[in-house]
Amino acid sequence: MNKVGVAILGLGVVGGGTYKILTENHDFYLKTQGVDIAVQSVLELDRERARVLGVPEEKIASNIAEVICNPDVNIVVECIGGVGAAKDFVLDALNTGKTVVTSNKELVCKFSHELERAAKRHNAGLYYEASCVGGVPIIRTLLDGLQANRIGSMMGIINGTTNYILTKMTNEGASYEEVLREAQRLGYAEADPSADVEGFDAAYKLSILSSLAFHTKVPLSKVFREGISGISAKDIAYGKDLGYVLKLLAIGKQTPAGIEVRVHPAFVKKEHPLASVNDSFNAVFITGDSVGDVMLYGRGAGSLPTGSALVSDVIYAATHSENKYSTFKNNATAEKDVTFVSDFRSAYYMRLTVSDRVGALSKITSILGKNDVSIVEAIQKGVASSGCVPLVIVTHETREHAIRNAVAKINALEGIVKVDSVLRVVS
Ligand code: HSE
Repeated sequence: MNKVGVAILGLGVVGGGTYKILTENHDFYLKTQGVDIAVQSVLELDRERARVLGVPEEKIASNIAEVICNPDVNIVVECIGGVGAAKDFVLDALNTGKTVVTSNKELVCKFSHELERAAKRHNAGLYYEASCVGGVPIIRTLLDGLQANRIGSMMGIINGTTNYILTKMTNEGASYEEVLREAQRLGYAEADPSADVEGFDAAYKLSILSSLAFHTKVPLSKVFREGISGISAKDIAYGKDLGYVLKLLAIGKQTPAGIEVRVHPAFVKKEHPLASVNDSFNAVFITGDSVGDVMLYGRGAGSLPTGSALVSDVIYAATHSENKYSTFKNNATAEKDVTFVSDFRSAYYMRLTVSDRVGALSKITSILGKNDVSIVEAIQKGVASSGCVPLVIVTHETREHAIRNAVAKINALEGIVKVDSVLRVVS
């Protein structure tokens, strides 16, 4: 019988869930996988937390050396997060030849090249299914299930916190600040919510996923990022009237001009499959040249869903003697011959406050026309109060730089008009 020993670093929400799955399903894995996977060690500063989970006292390590020097430990599961101690501990484990399984998206996004180098040098495995979209098996789908395909595009909702906030704002007409406070009270959002609401979390994940999908390093610096903290309930309501739902989207595309990677809020038609992905759920829509469209849906965070992804990597490592690494040259930066597109094409929604006087509208449409921005519809919302009216414009597809130029020129029409918001519309 193949015996495999596991150590878990950090017994918080995700580490605790992983411990629970591994211990409760021990006999099931023995029967179905033919492998005896036992938790041999845990590293958790709050020893009481470990005791509450039922970890035997002798298995609670006091420091990382105790974990990596333990000959019964073959696989180290890192659930600490961040790039401080977690990075040191992961490198320590890899440098002693232990396979590492991690849920740490920031670490994988920023340092996978360093970690992979250490793993290869010491014949250790490095697996990170849990780093992207929690319990949704997106990484194995890209690496195994869809490996026959050239992936043309990926579009997804890959952050649960922001999806929860936007869903509530949509359903209740509440403001961003109000919903964020509620999400923090319920534990859906962190006390410092910036990693989620400013799109960093989604950008880490998109950098990892697009590197795998497009077989080339897509560094974080190439991911365009815009969060949801500036979103107004008014825009969500106006968008709804036009048949749109607002989502924080992560988009990766392989285009003839190069790779396009971006995270930003965007309106999608209410009939689009991603429009009905609500609350803290995640989904990714992938298009491959042979398979066509594939959509994965599920829980992108949480104790047991993320634990499920970690344990699936533990089982993979425990049942495969050959390690599997990236399909591309995993350096800190992108390959020289790879181009990234920053001036991407999109349709746009704009909300303006316009002075209700003769010629104001024609000045706006003239600027849009001169900048190659073509209007699909323009709707005046309500009637003038204090001499101003809200105006909503939806454009045809144009280039990002064209819309930026147009907005700057419109805003320069002082006293006549102000652009309050600009949002992308994805078809
Ligand atoms: N904070 C993330 C989310 C989960 O809200 O989806 C971990 O990446």
